[in-house]
Amino acid sequence: MAASRVAAREGGEDAFRRLFRFYRRREGLDLTGVIDFSQPATRQVVNCPLSCSSVSDQDASRAGLQPVSQWKAYGLDSYPGFIFIPNPFLPGCQRHWVKQSLKQYTQKPNVCNLDMHMSSKETTDLWGKSQLQLRSRSSSKQEAKCLLEKLRWVTLGYHYNWNTKKYLADHYTAFPSDLAFLSEQVATACGFPGFQAEAGILNYYHFDSSLGIHVDESELDHSRPLLSFSFGQSSIFLLGGLKRDEAPVAMFMHSGDLMIMSGFSRLLFHAVPRVLPNLEGKPLPSCLELPLPADLPADSVIKPCSEKDWQVCAKYLQVSRINMTVRQVLAEGQSFPTEARTDGEQGAVLTGSYHEEDSRLKKQKSDVDS
Ligand code: OGA
Ligand code: MN
Repeated sequence: MAASRVAAREGGEDAFRRLFRFYRRREGLDLTGVIDFSQPATRQVVNCPLSCSSVSDQDASRAGLQPVSQWKAYGLDSYPGFIFIPNPFLPGCQRHWVKQSLKQYTQKPNVCNLDMHMSSKETTDLWGKSQLQLRSRSSSKQEAKCLLEKLRWVTLGYHYNWNTKKYLADHYTAFPSDLAFLSEQVATACGFPGFQAEAGILNYYHFDSSLGIHVDESELDHSRPLLSFSFGQSSIFLLGGLKRDEAPVAMFMHSGDLMIMSGFSRLLFHAVPRVLPNLEGKPLPSCLELPLPADLPADSVIKPCSEKDWQVCAKYLQVSRINMTVRQVLAEGQSFPTEARTDGEQGAVLTGSYHEEDSRLKKQKSDVDS
C-alpha cells in the first residue's frame, strides 16, 4: 500500500508514527513515495538559491567541497528553511570525513555510547582496537562485534546530555577545527554567515538501526541552522510538522548529502526509520570509490587517507551509515543560564550518567514486528 494512503486512512492521528512504522518494515517496502533529491521529480521540490559569492572557491575546496556555484540546492514546498544539497563534495573528499568519524572523533575526551558501560581504558582507541578485526571481517561468518561496530553515537564540543536533554558550560571539549571549517562554509553558503559549530552529534547506523521521532530543541539559539552530513549507505529521512500528528514527508539521504534545518523548519519533528543499501546496488556508493586527490591544497583541512585506513572505513561502511549533525548552541555573546541545578540533575552529573544511552537510537523491535 502506498505511504500516502496509509496516512490518509489513519485520519492524521499520530500520522508520523504510522509512517515511521510503514518505512521501518523490511519486507515489501514501497519506496515510490520517497523523494530522491538526486533526481527530483515531484512538484513539492523547489530550487533554493544559495549565496554563491559568500564562499570563495578556494575555501570551498579547502573544506573538500565543489565551488558553491556548482551545488544544486532544493527546498520543499511548505517547509521554509529546509534545504537539501545532494552531495556537493569534491571527488574523494568524503573519505576524509568518514575516516575522521571513525578514527579521530571517536577519541577521548569526546564522549560515546560505550562510555556508559565501559571503563575509559576500554573505550580508548576504538579504531586501534577494532581495525584488524574489521579488515579481516568476512560477511558470511557470524563473529563477535568489534567496538567500532558497537558504536552508536559520539558527541563533540558541548556534549549533549541524553538524560537531562541539556548542554552544560562545563562539559565541553574543543570542537574539531576541520569540521568547524566545513560547517562554516556550508552555513555561509546557505545564508548563515557567522555560524559557530559548538556541538556535534555523530550517529552510527547499521541496517537494523533507526532514529526515533524527535525535535532538536536543546540548543539555546534556534535562529541558527542545524546542519546534517550523511555518509555511507542510504537512509529514509522523515520530516514532519511542528506537531507529532502531522504526516511527514519521506526522502532519501545518500552518501555525501547535506541537509539544513533552519527558520520554520528548525524545530520540526523528524526521524530516520530505515537504513537501506545504496540504490546503485554496489557494496559502496560510487562517490566513495574515488581516492582523495594526491594534490590537496596545502591549507586544506582535508588530509590524505591511506589505503590501509580506507580499507577499514570501507569495510565498516558496507553495512553502515554515518550522520554528523552540527549545531550552534548559544547566540553570539550569550552564555549558559546560571540556573540552580535540581537534585536530579546534580545526581546525573555527579554519577557520570552523561553517558546514558540515547533512547532515540534503541532498536525499535515493536515497530519491526508490527
Ligand atoms: C540527529 C538527527 C538525522 C540523521 O542526530 O538529531 O536527526 O540523518 N540525525 O541521522
Ligand atoms: Mn535530529
